[in-house]
Amino acid sequence: MTQLNQLESFQTRINQFLENALQQLPVNDPKLLDAMRYGLLIGGKRMRPYLVYTTGQTLGAKLDDLDGIAAALECIHAYSLLHDDLPAMDDDDLRRGQPTCHKAFDEATAILAGDSLQTLAFDILANHGFSTAVATKRVALIRHLVNASGYQGMCGGQAMDLAATDKAIELNELEQLHKLKTGALLKACVLMAAECSDSVSADDKDNLSEYADCVGLAYQVRDDIIDITSNQEELGKPAGSDLAANKSTYPALLGLSGAQEKADQLFKQALQALARLPYNSDNLAQFATFIVQRTH
Ligand code: IPE
Ligand code: IPE
Ligand code: MG
Ligand code: MG
Ligand code: MG
Repeated sequence: MTQLNQLESFQTRINQFLENALQQLPVNDPKLLDAMRYGLLIGGKRMRPYLVYTTGQTLGAKLDDLDGIAAALECIHAYSLLHDDLPAMDDDDLRRGQPTCHKAFDEATAILAGDSLQTLAFDILANHGFSTAVATKRVALIRHLVNASGYQGMCGGQAMDLAATDKAIELNELEQLHKLKTGALLKACVLMAAECSDSVSADDKDNLSEYADCVGLAYQVRDDIIDITSNQEELGKPAGSDLAANKSTYPALLGLSGAQEKADQLFKQALQALARLPYNSDNLAQFATFIVQRTH
């Protein structure tokens, strides 16, 4: 299968799984459920599920196990975007080519839809029909997701991002901010998928971790670059919003070419980590290529 077919096939797979997860929920509040559906199912590249499936396949994990992990991570990601766009945070009106959730519904509903998607992630992890070997790792999986999404991870990074607005910060602070804000969740994609493999060693996990750190950081460096170089039509979200909000970003600190150099350097380091793995990691290498070259 070509990478594009593979991407489409995993996108279809995760969309069906997520659609089904929402359908299982009782309709207590139709508006809230609609807002959850809006935030979770309309658009999105599904990069995190793709990384879960690709890592898992590389390591010989079962797709049915990976479904629960990919879905939980995408729920956290979707919730993070609903809250990121709120007036109290980035105050953006457009996401995935559509009005942001608080514009399409209202602020309170967008906040609650985010909260509900966050808990849905843990609902899925707690209740997914994992195979016997993976079911014994349920608590470890939950621990990974907690570390990646909460104070120690994405939320902590979002707070650092807000604190760094209108303020110049050092490169090492920016790196730490990115690691938490975006990197932690991408790293969890790789490490949680690795939990579903029965052949992966501690050394393999270290190398996968380094790969994920590099790709996760490169992902956000690239996000900052395309915020400047792309346009609203291509992005499906406003371009130039980091500049408008006076955010500390890689291009702001290093210039555009310095930022792309940083992304390229991270890409090389990611490939070196993969080369140390005793698996055919071509698909993970292609994912890294996609990340540093993406234009939206
Ligand atoms: C955007 O994430 C925000 C970041 C964390 C960089 P994505 O670029 O993965 O957004 P979608 O899910 O495809 O819309
Ligand atoms: C969002 O980062 C990161 C999270 C939601 C955790 P950004 O604020 O840069 O994302 P975009 O550019 O709005 O997609
Ligand atoms: Mg933000
Ligand atoms: Mg934003
Ligand atoms: Mg951005």
